[in-house]
Amino acid sequence: MSTVIINIGELVTNAPESGPDDSGGYAAIANAALVIEDGRIAWTGPASRAPDADHAVDAAGRAVLPGFVDSHAHLVFAGERGAEFAARMAGVPYSAGGIASTVAATRAASDAQLSANLRRLAAEMLAQGSTTFECKSGYGLTVADEARGVALAAEVTAEVTYLGAHVVPPEFESDPAGYVDLVCGPMLAACAPHARWVDVFCERGAFDEHAARAVLTAGRAAGLQPRVHANQLGPGRGVQVAVESGAASADHCTYLSDSDVDALASSQTVATLLPGVEFSTRQPYPDARRLLGAGATVAIATDCNPGSCFTSSMPFCIALAVRELRMTTQEAVWAATAGGARALRRDDIGHLGTGARADLIMLGAPSHAYLAYRPGVPQIAAVWQNGRLKAGPSAGSCGQRDG
Ligand code: NIG
Ligand code: FE
Repeated sequence: MSTVIINIGELVTNAPESGPDDSGGYAAIANAALVIEDGRIAWTGPASRAPDADHAVDAAGRAVLPGFVDSHAHLVFAGERGAEFAARMAGVPYSAGGIASTVAATRAASDAQLSANLRRLAAEMLAQGSTTFECKSGYGLTVADEARGVALAAEVTAEVTYLGAHVVPPEFESDPAGYVDLVCGPMLAACAPHARWVDVFCERGAFDEHAARAVLTAGRAAGLQPRVHANQLGPGRGVQVAVESGAASADHCTYLSDSDVDALASSQTVATLLPGVEFSTRQPYPDARRLLGAGATVAIATDCNPGSCFTSSMPFCIALAVRELRMTTQEAVWAATAGGARALRRDDIGHLGTGARADLIMLGAPSHAYLAYRPGVPQIAAVWQNGRLKAGPSAGSCGQRDG
């Protein structure tokens, strides 16, 4: 079964065959068409040369982009922390301590409650154009609770991250080294079969660089690939640990030294920026221009979680990246698609080159720029995942007809 999308006003491909430009990998074709076949991109090119297919969809001049790749989210939790957010907006600083209240709620929740919350958030993400998302454990912090966290996450995504090293739970307050042993031992053994990634919150108040290295080394030995929460709340060793460990991504990167920027720029570790966190915590935004100027690969993700940032919206994060991180609209869209794919070491998503997974979105607007130009306004008219049209806010009005 093949589908051709015709009359695409702007087709963002991020694919080399569209021609390189000066924004570092972003590529687009004006007045384009695209063919989906068997869940893959079979053809892209000028609308005037669109081949026939079994079905045709008329984009009527609207923009088509790769689906967003949200490479950082914490969706396995119970409860909410709206009062903590309100207190922050009244001047109380964010600290890692709030995580403990979500841990208590998560431990008390049934599997069914956790699963329902997770699936609701996953559906929210899809409706907002995220066709791939990563999902971390990290609010269980016992062997059984972390194991069920990664198992539930694995039901909804292939990109599951074991984050037993989120914070030291209250029962280990007087024995943090004992907790690291648990994370690197029985907890890892129970979680590794369900996960692809291992993560650690390397930060004052969470885990220091020695503990972080131990967690990442043990995770790697169990077949998991590292990623790191780094330099979120202050300067620290997180980025260096991430780069030295060959992590796919160092996430947050809010407080960076020159040597952190150099380390990122000269490595394969993606700098994943999470501007929704700074929006929701009133911390300073990370310096995307400094990273881009140095040649680092930058991704944008939501960090969707009940504490530091409770948005599931990549369009919102793109708007923040443009307005607050001073990224161009092209850089922000690339970072939210191809950048996210690099942060997950995936080459089948984040672009619409021939052979890519047919994960794509149609906006209700003629160009990618509308994602930042019309902040807060729903822009996702349709979402295809693996070649299948998914229900979106107005997927029914995208004009699918038999060809
Ligand atoms: O990425 N930094 C650590 N973890 C989350 C916050 C979790 C929470 O506040 O509940 C983050 O910001
Ligand atoms: Fe996070």
